[in-house]
Amino acid sequence: MERREFLRQLALLSACSLGGVRSATAAAATDAGPIVLNAAPSSAAFFDEAPTPLWTFGGQTPGPLIRARQGDMVRARLVNGLPEATTVHWHGIRIRNDMDGVPGLTQAPTEPGAEFDYAFTVPDAGTYWYHSHHRSWSQVARGLYGILIVDEPAPPPVDQDLVFVLDDWRIGDDYQLDEASFGSMHDASHAGRLGNWATVNGQFNHEMAVRSGERVRLRIVNTANSRVFELRFDRHEPIVIALDGQPVSSPYALPNSMLEISPGQRVDLIVDMQLSPGDAAPISVVFRDDEAPVSQFSYTSTERLTRDLPPVEALPENPLDRNIRLDSAKRVPLLMEGGAMGRMREARYQGEQRAMRDLIREGMVWAMNGEVGQPEAPLVRVPRGTTVQFDMTNQTAWPHAMHVHGHHFQVVERDGQPVNGAPWRDTELALPGESVSCAFVADNPGKWLLHCHMLEHSVSGMLTWFEVV
Ligand code: C2O
Ligand code: CU
Repeated sequence: MERREFLRQLALLSACSLGGVRSATAAAATDAGPIVLNAAPSSAAFFDEAPTPLWTFGGQTPGPLIRARQGDMVRARLVNGLPEATTVHWHGIRIRNDMDGVPGLTQAPTEPGAEFDYAFTVPDAGTYWYHSHHRSWSQVARGLYGILIVDEPAPPPVDQDLVFVLDDWRIGDDYQLDEASFGSMHDASHAGRLGNWATVNGQFNHEMAVRSGERVRLRIVNTANSRVFELRFDRHEPIVIALDGQPVSSPYALPNSMLEISPGQRVDLIVDMQLSPGDAAPISVVFRDDEAPVSQFSYTSTERLTRDLPPVEALPENPLDRNIRLDSAKRVPLLMEGGAMGRMREARYQGEQRAMRDLIREGMVWAMNGEVGQPEAPLVRVPRGTTVQFDMTNQTAWPHAMHVHGHHFQVVERDGQPVNGAPWRDTELALPGESVSCAFVADNPGKWLLHCHMLEHSVSGMLTWFEVV
């Protein structure tokens, strides 16, 4: 089914050309006044035939691009014009806890007609995003998200700095979002809710005008509910400079110019434009044995810039506490269970041991350490400054994009083998059968979620929390 629809997209992509789709506009984050995020029903001009109703911030998806300098105070006012409550979570920002946007944990959900003021400093430069964290499996899928860029004090010299937001949408023959499938237990217990149409910056026919000889920074963000995107760059050799906002210590070329990016993750690339004026090169989504272009570099006819591009250098480090002490770490085993083709027979839910079939009736299919959904008590409570090590074992038949709030972590062990010098991330893909240990210094006080960023998985049980005191 899903394969067929993806193929249908391949066919439609070549058949239809859409012009004039709105792209994200920039709003400066200043100390002067808040950026207003109007959450409201809206629609996208995805198709010429009919508008597609969505829910968006500021009438567009992605929502307003928020841009700040490292160390700035960002102020944003959520104005809820939706028919249900919502919140805004600032994904990847090492934020003060009461601004983290988690309903029931760090704030009350903002009701229809109400407002909520967010104000927080952004300690780390890099590429981040914001999204609804209330009924996010539905609200994010309807378009409630946007990008937050935090600029380095001296950004690396590039000719263009471009945002590249990947999403997939499940759209029916009537050009409307397939709302009937929200809450589908089949999706929840398998790979999550995958779309049949892919967009970049909310467009089906996205392209980037580039000049021969230019250097471009490309900020790739995966905002899809559950799709792990695999991208292939044709005739270009992108260099990775940052993952989830955090600079890599030595920039490296993408192997085979292929990029895998899980829901919630970001990858910053430097791409040198080495083709000739007038050339074009697709960027394609690879899906099983097929691929479909989702964007392209379109070279202008302007003559090639003649100058030597220097080697790509590492970005300056962000002020993370890197002082992980594995010998004294608080180790927290985390057994991930459940889902289709899994072995889970029962788990604790709302304080009671329940059989799998009862859990399914409640819409619950995943457990961590035998516990389904957000427990009353934290998974662990640690004093500030403790090194925490989550020893995650994925005993399910599905990959999970595990996301930690308020901190960035390092993978220190994979399948029992120590890993040295892994990049700092806030979201890591755990493959079926894999064990992955993530460590970090718990230096940010408050209550923080740890959950799968496949949003159907987190709502159906794969979500817990920890506390730093
Ligand atoms: Cu981007 Cu708890 O999520
Ligand atoms: Cu998952």
